[in-house]
Amino acid sequence: MSKVLILYHSLSGNTEAMAIAVQEGVASTGADAILKKAADAGADDLINCDAVIMGTANYFSYEAGMMKDFFDRTFFTLKGKVDNKPYAVFGSYGGGGEVAIESLAKLCDNLGLKKSADNVGAQRKPSAEALDQCKALGAKMAIL
Ligand SMILES: Cc1cc2nc3c(=O)[nH]c(=O)nc-3n(C[C@H](O)[C@H](O)[C@H](O)COP(=O)(O)O)c2cc1C
Repeated sequence: MSKVLILYHSLSGNTEAMAIAVQEGVASTGADAILKKAADAGADDLINCDAVIMGTANYFSYEAGMMKDFFDRTFFTLKGKVDNKPYAVFGSYGGGGEVAIESLAKLCDNLGLKKSADNVGAQRKPSAEALDQCKALGAKMAIL
């Protein structure tokens, strides 16, 4: 069974709602969906999954500090151990668009992960359509 890690940070719940929808999408395929806040995750979480889907809110046009903190803490442990592992990104923003999830994607690229699905973004509280896109993202990443 494939194991998909959903790693995210969210202050006011918008990105978290997307993360939960991604989790539902992964689980709908029968795959194992592991939902973790970045602050609670370590290098082993990324080593022990088959794919990772990362979510962040846009804070000051960057990924959340706690997402960056995950990379800061784990980069040298992970480098060379997760090459070509599939990843995708999602997240919520105010008016600034997808710049923060694009920044998060660059961190994933630097680590050697392989981008395997289009970004999913939502403005503030995700609409029903955005949540459906999150579910579809989870399902897609689970059956790669
Ligand atoms: C400290 C802070 C800084 C923010 N900076 C931006 C920004 O630069 N661009 C933007 O589009 N939204 C910005 N926002 C709005 C959030 O991205 C938006 O409210 C988002 O839905 C929050 O997601 P969350 O509920 O997962 O925390 C900011 C919010 C906070 C709290």
